[in-house]
Amino acid sequence: MNNIESIIKEAILQIKEADLKAIESIKVKYSGKSGVLTQILKSLSNCSVDDKKRIGQEANKAKNIIETEIELRKEALKKEILEEKMQKEKLDYSNKFYFPFTKGSFHPIIQTIQDISSVFKSLGFSIAQGPEIETNWYNFEALNIPQNHPARDVQDTFYLVGMKELLRTHTSPGQIHVMETQKPPIRVIVPGKVYRNEASDATHSATFHQVEGLSVDENITFVDLKAVLSDFTHEFFGTDVDIRFRPSYFQFTEPSAEVDMQCIFCKGKGCRICKNSGWIELLGCGMVHPNVLKAVNYDSEKYTGYAFGIGVERIAMFKYGIDDIRLFYENDLRFLKQF
Ligand code: PHE
Repeated sequence: MNNIESIIKEAILQIKEADLKAIESIKVKYSGKSGVLTQILKSLSNCSVDDKKRIGQEANKAKNIIETEIELRKEALKKEILEEKMQKEKLDYSNKFYFPFTKGSFHPIIQTIQDISSVFKSLGFSIAQGPEIETNWYNFEALNIPQNHPARDVQDTFYLVGMKELLRTHTSPGQIHVMETQKPPIRVIVPGKVYRNEASDATHSATFHQVEGLSVDENITFVDLKAVLSDFTHEFFGTDVDIRFRPSYFQFTEPSAEVDMQCIFCKGKGCRICKNSGWIELLGCGMVHPNVLKAVNYDSEKYTGYAFGIGVERIAMFKYGIDDIRLFYENDLRFLKQF
């Protein structure tokens, strides 16, 4: 019995001193298959029944005590190691972050969308959002784009698996969502991302941004469209720029037009940015096609409207004199910090 007592004492002393490696051999030494305590238990076969019971119990108790001590020591050692590691990795905030903080800024595309939006807000437009994943109905059919029209080509449109849904190729489906949920008078813009399946180069990107505009009411005419777009251009670029309306074609507007603005870099004389034409193409627009009004159950006899779609990257490139659209998406801080 004295022997067992001293074994416990001795083991505990060793455990207290041990590191993670030593602790494993202590375990083997005392409670392993040929460990000290296991030996004692084995040697009991020659003892009296009484001794067997008494010494056996004590030896088992000792085994439990030692094993518990070992587990406790292991936990403590692991904690110590972790704390040491954390201490080493600890960041010194007082040293790394100091006044004045470096200020972030909006991405030039977001900035441009905000600038466009604030001009239209001042002209009485509200702002709506539409989903980027659309169905054929919203992106094409409701906009009077027939089944076999080239605009629907799978080559140009990113269809989702199953071909039921697609990534919107323009913000015009936003017109349909707005008209489905609101009654005239409507005066709204829908900014957002659009997607086209095309290779990127200096002027093309598979993802870009548009701001859609829509106004529907009784007695809306092309004159209202001209007034709003010329107000916008003058507010956005300055009062001295000329704009012109050129006849164009979109399925969802009739008549349709494209708006050009006199090049602000050469004042119309012709330069690299306007490719010597003196004019820059700004946006597409027109009077909402009666079929579009019918698609949302509007009375196309009673109501008329106009719509327009502004290419945000185009406008930003022109405003800031940027000649490669890809710069917007590379997230190079040397570029972004200039805005
Ligand atoms: N959705 C057209 C495009 O992506 C632009 C547009 C919008 C034209 C509204 C007319 C009216 O090219």
